[in-house]
Amino acid sequence: MCGIVGYSGPQSAALPLIQGLRRLEYRGYDSAGIALGTPGTLFIEKKAGKLSNLENALDASLPTVHSGIGHTRWATHGGPTDRNAHPHVDNDGKLAVIHNGIIENYSELRATLQARGHKFSSETDTESVAHLLSDLRKEHKGDLAGAMCDAVKLLRGSFTLVAIHADNPDVVVGVRRNSPLVVGLGKGENFMASDVAAFIDYTKRAIELGQDEVVTMTPTSVVITNLKGAVIVPKEYEISWDATAAQKGGFNHFMLKEIFEQPKAVADTLIGRLSDNKQIVLDELHMSIEEIRALKKITVIACGTAYHAGMLAKYAIEKWAKIPVEVEIASEYRYRDPIVDPQTLVIAISQSGETMDTLMALRHAKSAGARVFAICNTHSSTIPRESDAVLYTHAGPEIAVASTKAFLTQIIAVYLIGLHLAQINGALKDVQVEELYNELLELPGKIEQILQTAEPLRALTRTFAHNNIVLFLGRNIGYPVALEGALKLKELAYIHAEGFAGGELKHGPIALIDSGTPVIAILPVGDEHGLNEKMLSNIQEVKARGARVIVITEEGANIEGAEHIIRIPVVPALLQPILATVPLQLFAYEMALARGNDVDQPRNLAKSVTVE
Ligand code: F6R
Repeated sequence: MCGIVGYSGPQSAALPLIQGLRRLEYRGYDSAGIALGTPGTLFIEKKAGKLSNLENALDASLPTVHSGIGHTRWATHGGPTDRNAHPHVDNDGKLAVIHNGIIENYSELRATLQARGHKFSSETDTESVAHLLSDLRKEHKGDLAGAMCDAVKLLRGSFTLVAIHADNPDVVVGVRRNSPLVVGLGKGENFMASDVAAFIDYTKRAIELGQDEVVTMTPTSVVITNLKGAVIVPKEYEISWDATAAQKGGFNHFMLKEIFEQPKAVADTLIGRLSDNKQIVLDELHMSIEEIRALKKITVIACGTAYHAGMLAKYAIEKWAKIPVEVEIASEYRYRDPIVDPQTLVIAISQSGETMDTLMALRHAKSAGARVFAICNTHSSTIPRESDAVLYTHAGPEIAVASTKAFLTQIIAVYLIGLHLAQINGALKDVQVEELYNELLELPGKIEQILQTAEPLRALTRTFAHNNIVLFLGRNIGYPVALEGALKLKELAYIHAEGFAGGELKHGPIALIDSGTPVIAILPVGDEHGLNEKMLSNIQEVKARGARVIVITEEGANIEGAEHIIRIPVVPALLQPILATVPLQLFAYEMALARGNDVDQPRNLAKSVTVE
């Protein structure tokens, strides 16, 4: 939610800033802007719309200066206009600030600052910070970092702020609270950004800033302090992926690239998880055997696609480990007095590790005494840092706004947890665990097979491009898959897409079916509990009312009534979602393309949702 980048070094600053913003555009694309450290008065350019609008506005007269800040916005306070675009400046045009997050007390601040004579030119919460910093910097005799420390003490909410002043243009100052900021350490140059992707072309050395820490950087120095000004010795780390991971690599869109990366992502998340003596290796859990056996309940908290992975955690952990699991939409969790105690394990699932709803739910669970375990794809992000332990998925950077490879690896992660708990509880024998693990190991090859034979599905999808409604049906573990298929389609094709539990159809949703309504049904594997037959009946019911039915089912299954059948390789029932999701991702991708939508940056969305 908003991308931030700062630079100080020998390069003409506009280059690394624009390059960084390109990499961060997934975080928000309502407007973009830069402030360059021209001595005297800062050079500011900002434009509503995508980054390309800003790039077009930056003509040859762009000053060659060596520091600056840049921003790509997902609008919260104030619409996506030129005026509301960041950076925001003080009344002298000398101090500029960019912001990710929300300043909750901005209207009080604004009123106070207006009473002091400051003139506002935007509707944003951020502009108050520019005026506030301007006053405080004067009180601090030109020390921007000192001003930042005092400003933060007056702010409520979540924010990353980065500021620059024309009188000391080499100095870039940043701070973070509940929102990400990383520092990139280059040779004779330094960077700040919301995400390492912004500077990966220039350096792999990074520092993750802690909560309420202030960083002051010049081309040759990086100093980090707390809000009292005490210096903090930072922990440096090496970024483990390279610039190519943040490029499209020959694909037309990041989403397609990420769909095709799924075999590797799944394999990387699984690798080395079974020891020679047939034990699931999950040292990350940091729980003793006694603690695991004492567990009374697991609560999964997550949002959106990650929530669907959480639903699958319930099916797997309850079936394999016999521990009750509840799954909560993170934004709802803390508002209903959830029952939590030290024998509750809370699992927070998040690709970005920055989702504010999940973070707030996690904090609530922790304060109520639960042990919190994160499943996350982004190293050193806030959610893993605030959790008691973390299992990283190894999907690599996910840049398309619609989550694909992160979802599949989240399912793998929760399944590994399920197998580990089952083994420790004695609910599954070692030989059963080994068998399931070996089945998991075969998934990358099976996903590859789906991807290599997907052309007919992609062609078929294009025939549905004019439809404004698509329904998805699933039962049991097919139900979260139906929800995920519908979510992908909503966010990419901007149409009414809904997932239903097959049994619910007759309780209302069947009224939506009309002649030609596309219905995608995920047929359960095997016929445990007669589910397969029940889904076949559902297919007949919708077909009788005119639906065009696409069925996703395993190779060899016999189906009547379907207009189209998408076959996926045979796997044990619980593993089916990992395969059945892939055609649905491709369906949503093709629909978006066919409808002329922006696949990687769907309207109104942003990748990392750092506001509640
Ligand atoms: C959908 C999607 C979102 C995210 C959700 C949680 O394609 O990407 O629904 O899954 O915003 O994000 P994370 O996993 O970063 O917490």
